[in-house]
Amino acid sequence: MPETITANFTGIDPLSAVTHPDPYPYYRELAATRPFFQEPRLGLWVAAGPREVAAVLAHPDCRVRPPAQPVPPALAGTAAGALFGRLIRMNEGAAHAPLKALLMPMLAAVDPGVAAQRAGAMARVLDAGEAAHAAMPAASVNRWLFALPVVSLAAVLGLPLARDCGMALEGARQVAAFAAAQSPLADADTVRAGAGAARWLGTWLASSLAGSVAADGPLPALQHAAQAAGIEAQAVAANIIGLLVQACEATAGLAGNTLLWLGRNPSAGGMPLQGVVARVAQDDPPVQNTRRFLAADSELCGHAAKAGDTVLVLLAAASCSGLADDARAWTFGHGRHACPGDRLAQALAAATVSALRARGAEPAALARAFRYRPSLSARIPHFL
Ligand code: HEM
Repeated sequence: MPETITANFTGIDPLSAVTHPDPYPYYRELAATRPFFQEPRLGLWVAAGPREVAAVLAHPDCRVRPPAQPVPPALAGTAAGALFGRLIRMNEGAAHAPLKALLMPMLAAVDPGVAAQRAGAMARVLDAGEAAHAAMPAASVNRWLFALPVVSLAAVLGLPLARDCGMALEGARQVAAFAAAQSPLADADTVRAGAGAARWLGTWLASSLAGSVAADGPLPALQHAAQAAGIEAQAVAANIIGLLVQACEATAGLAGNTLLWLGRNPSAGGMPLQGVVARVAQDDPPVQNTRRFLAADSELCGHAAKAGDTVLVLLAAASCSGLADDARAWTFGHGRHACPGDRLAQALAAATVSALRARGAEPAALARAFRYRPSLSARIPHFL
């Protein structure tokens, strides 16, 4: 019923929904009335119903990259492209499964309580970069959202980013610069900065792995297991950087959306933070969609899709539709590329919100003045 959609929801489409003030009524209508459809204006198939979202993510011909374009053209031939091309997130089959099989248990074994402790310690390291304030200013909140989860993850992995505040902020800045270069909205300067960041991160990680990784952290065992499985060392190194990159924007979004939720629901301020974060991951998720690319002509959800077609998979629509059999955080994906860092991400987001509140960040005040950062997939507030 396209007419109904147009009549009720003017000025919103599946891409602008990501940063719309309240996209959820629109998503719910899509999931209920058009669970899988072709959007000719955007040149995309759109999957919105939970069954359709799960079917696309499980389909063997639906790939994470266009088969002829393993690396986005803007990054190809740069250090950022070389790093990107090795990420399990961006590969299928033999280039994906063996390393993921090692990363899943490694991340699952991290105790959320230990992750929260590391985040508390890293927050005290970052304090050195803050002037004394009664209430934390919005600019500091934004900086911490992008720094604290990443440096805490580095600490969990035993990487030496934690020595001092300057080093921690610089590392987090480089991770964010590499993450930003992957966006389809990235301009030439952002792509150039991403290539520089990939070089910086590569050099930093190589020197860390050569000497200063914590012996009691999970990385030495990962390296041994990877070597025994015949996985090349460069792929392991790229994917360790990849963990920090994956943690960056999405966890900033989860923590930021949790601050917004707390600001809008002041009476729920006493609710355990872990529960609030889990709820936000379902109700106002940081990753709203992901894409798949058809490797062959295929029947998809009863439609004939062609090799080369793109499917926009609306994780957030499946999540809010009320049509799924189980309530789950679709924002972490599903099927063979599902996020292995989901529990850790929620622990780090909760620890970040808790550290910010302890330093005077005021959710109600933050929720009164913010915009969403420009993005076609991630919903991340920028506080003003
Ligand atoms: C709120 C935070 C996070 C969200 C919402 C999130 C979401 C996702 C999603 C949707 C995917 C699947 C992408 C797709 O199939 O198209 C994914 C993959 C992945 N995530 Fe996360 N993620 C988060 C945090 C993290 C963290 C903290 C880590 C690392 C510790 C991590 C590591 C990964 C990796 C390695 C993959 C690739 C898995 C594969 O290709 O098989 N993520 N994530």
